[in-house]
Amino acid sequence: MAQQKATNITWHDAIVTAEDREKLLNQKGCVIWFTGLSGSGKSTLANAVEQVLHQQQHHTYVLDGDNVRHGLNKNLGFSPEDREENIRRIGEVAKLFADAGTIVMTAFISPYRADRDQARELIAEGRFVEVFVECPLEVCEERDTKGLYKKARAGEIKEFTGISAPYEPPVDPEVTVNTAELSLEESAHVVVSSLVKAGLVPSGN
Ligand code: ADX
Repeated sequence: MAQQKATNITWHDAIVTAEDREKLLNQKGCVIWFTGLSGSGKSTLANAVEQVLHQQQHHTYVLDGDNVRHGLNKNLGFSPEDREENIRRIGEVAKLFADAGTIVMTAFISPYRADRDQARELIAEGRFVEVFVECPLEVCEERDTKGLYKKARAGEIKEFTGISAPYEPPVDPEVTVNTAELSLEESAHVVVSSLVKAGLVPSGN
């Protein structure tokens, strides 16, 4: 758990509220949290969902693990502590995006249940949609899009999720998508439909 280090800081309430921004944007700020093994298709799916929502005139943004680790989180590795801090920061960034009225999608392995739950706690009830991108390890390894599983098996990468580091699947996610069984289009449809059902976006406007 991150410690509050700064003292003598005061919270300032804004004049333009989150509700005002949502009205302007005609949508509800929310967090779609994709979790799953490396190679399960989180980024691909998040981007496909974003494309659908964008075409429906929604304001969206994708926060992607590999990308964020090039910037904001470049000082973090893959130890359990660093992954926890990675997810803590992303949870806070996602909260800011949602407060700005954006539909933000996060595509991080986020292997620890407690870290995902902590991210959920930051967001208002009903505005956090956990999407379990389910894909058997064998299939991810077979895909090996980045060649990392091969390296992990050879011992060249330590603490690799699914091989030498744990992945804790969600217990009760809002959505589960099996990318080994569904096409990308079908998977995106499942996610978008769930957002409509949750009242976060209107149906196919
Ligand atoms: S997380 O565990 O902290 O959520 P994150 O999603 O940011 O991970 O980054 C995962 C990506 O980093 C993987 O898709 C892969 O490309 C790369 N990577 C490099 N080393 C590792 C590792 N040891 N375990 C998992 N992914 C790794």
